[in-house]
Amino acid sequence: MIIAVDGLTASGKGTVAKRLAARYGLRRLDTGALYRAVGLAVLDAGGAPDDEAAAVAAAEALDLEAIDENRIRSAAAGMSASKVAVIPAVRAVLRKAQRAFAADPAGAVLDGRDIGTVICPDADVKLFVTASLAERTRRRLTELDARGETVSFADLERQIAERDQRDMSRVDSPLRPASDAHLLDTTDLSIEAAAEAAYRIVDAALARSGA
Ligand code: C5P
Repeated sequence: MIIAVDGLTASGKGTVAKRLAARYGLRRLDTGALYRAVGLAVLDAGGAPDDEAAAVAAAEALDLEAIDENRIRSAAAGMSASKVAVIPAVRAVLRKAQRAFAADPAGAVLDGRDIGTVICPDADVKLFVTASLAERTRRRLTELDARGETVSFADLERQIAERDQRDMSRVDSPLRPASDAHLLDTTDLSIEAAAEAAYRIVDAALARSGA
C-alpha cells in the first residue's frame, strides 16, 4: 500500500505521515527532508539556492543516509529548500530517489508537496493536510523556539506565507491537492485527533478497495 500525504508547511503532515507509517507497518519517506538537505548543502558550500548548477550538483551528491536531521530543520534550510525546489532539474534528480523508495513492494508512506499529483499519482490513499496560517505559524514558532532560534511571530508568518506562495505558484509540480485527495484540516485538532482522523480516512479507503 502506498499512502501519499501532501500539505502546507507546518500543517501537521509529517506527524500524520509518521503515525500512519507506524499504524500500518510501512516505511516512511519525508520528501521535504531531501529538499531541505539540498538547500542546506548549497548554503554550506557558500552558494545561492537559486543557482541552478550549484543546486543540481548538491541534489546529485545527496546521500539519503547522511542527512543531518537536526541541521535541516533550521528556518534557513527551509527557506533555501523552497528555492531549490523551484528548479525543475533539481526536482528531476529527487523524483528518481522518491520513486525508487515508493517502488518497494512492501509499500510506503511518502509526505511532501507533490506526492499525490506527481510522485505517486496511483497511490492507494491520498491525504491533503491543511491548517490556518496563524496556527501553522504558532506550531513552527514552538519548534524553532525549542531549537533556540528566535524569530517574531509576524516575521515567521510572513516567511511561511512566502514559502506557501512559492510552493503553490511554481511551474514544475506546484503544491495543490490531487483531485482524489482527502482533505484534513488540523487547525483545531490535537496530534492525537489528527492521527485518528487520518486512520479513519485510510481505513475507509482500504474497506472500499476490499483490502
Ligand atoms: O515539508 P518541508 O517544509 O520540510 O519542505 C521544505 C520545502 O521543500 C517546501 O517548502 C517545498 O518547497 C519543498 N518540497 C517540495 N516537494 C516536496 C517536498 C518538499 O517542493 N515533495
